[in-house]
Amino acid sequence: MTDAELMQLAKRARKNAYAPYSGFVVGAALLCSDESVYMGCNVENASYGATMCAERVAMYQAIANGKSSFVKIAVCGGTDLTYTDVVCPPCGICRQVLREFCTDAFRIVLQNGDEIVSYKIGELLPFSFQKNMLEK
Ligand code: THU
Repeated sequence: MTDAELMQLAKRARKNAYAPYSGFVVGAALLCSDESVYMGCNVENASYGATMCAERVAMYQAIANGKSSFVKIAVCGGTDLTYTDVVCPPCGICRQVLREFCTDAFRIVLQNGDEIVSYKIGELLPFSFQKNMLEK
C-alpha cells in the first residue's frame, strides 16, 4: 500500500474523531506486515487526561487483534476536517508507544500541505528508551 493510500484511510478515520474539547481532529492508519490496516481517531473526555490519541487507538487495536509486526503509520490532523496545511507529528507519548512495537525501518507518514512526507521512527524519537534495556 502506498503512503498516499494509507493517508486516505487516516483521513477517513479522522471523520470519527471525538474532539469536542480541543476541536482538533486526528486520524491514523497503521499498516501491518500482513497488509491489514488498523485505523484510529482521537477520543477526548470531559476528564481531559482520559483522552486517547489517534495513533495509540490504532496501535492498541492492532495489538488487541494479535498483530505484532508493523510497516508504517499515516497520521493527519487539524482544527477541522478539511485542514491539511500543517503537518501533524505524533506526540511524545505516541512516539514512545510506536517505538515499543516497531523496527527501525518503521515509518511515520505525514501530510504537509499538498505533500506527503515520511520519517523513520529513529528520526522522530532518537536516543530512545527501549525494552531491550530492561534485559538482565
Ligand atoms: N492528538 C492526537 O490524537 N495525536 C497526537 O499525536 C497529538 C494530539 C489529539 C489529542 C487531543 O484530542 C487533540 O489531539 C489535541 O491535543
